[in-house]
Amino acid sequence: MRIIKKKNYDEVSRAAAEIIASQVKLVPDSVLGLATGSTPIGAYKELVRQCKDGILDFSAETSVNLYEYYGLEGSNNQSYRYFMDTNLFNHINIDMAKTNVPSGTAENADAECQRYEELISELGGTDLQLLGLGHNGHIGFNEPSDEFVVSTHVVGLSESTIEANKRFFESADDVPKKAITMGIGTIMKSKLVLLVVSGAEKADILKKALFGPVTPMVQASILQLHPNLVVVTDCEI
Ligand code: GLP
Repeated sequence: MRIIKKKNYDEVSRAAAEIIASQVKLVPDSVLGLATGSTPIGAYKELVRQCKDGILDFSAETSVNLYEYYGLEGSNNQSYRYFMDTNLFNHINIDMAKTNVPSGTAENADAECQRYEELISELGGTDLQLLGLGHNGHIGFNEPSDEFVVSTHVVGLSESTIEANKRFFESADDVPKKAITMGIGTIMKSKLVLLVVSGAEKADILKKALFGPVTPMVQASILQLHPNLVVVTDCEI
């Protein structure tokens, strides 16, 4: 594990963007595993800037996102497809046909999970997987549990995640109760995992994830076993 310690959110964002930018430059047809949440927004802004300045070329890249709320159309402004389009894809020269987010409206959610998992494996897995960290240690939408679920699956969101995400909705009741998320195996198969964590309130959970016991109660703790984990953070750990 490599920990890159930065002073604040802006520095964290620039450092994370540099790692993603290096991947794009070194392997122009990489498969990028992307994330949402407030944490990656700064890094995405920097990638947009570099693309607009002609320093970065996403035209050969493929992307796969970690998850989607189940029950939301991609055009819904709370969906993660919408988030990715508005925060990144619409502003860079990626081929939209090569951007992948699970469908939140597939009639058969389990079949959609299987399709998504097969798609990732046909692509050869992700070269780089960007991750944020949930307040309860979740990665993707893999919530604290008594097991690590390996493949893409449907998950019921925990109360604490609904509570944390209600700021984006009119009320907690409007937050979808389920999501389709990559599994822990899907994430762990990535050649490089980039975990980006900012804010003093995440320091305790980050410490547990990186230095505590590996347990499904803190799903991110399994990242300790990843051979190529880079953590970029401004947390005191
Ligand atoms: C969300 C997502 C996570 C994200 C986390 C933290 O619920 N499922 O992938 O990393 O919570 O979000 P934020 O970056 O806004 O703190």
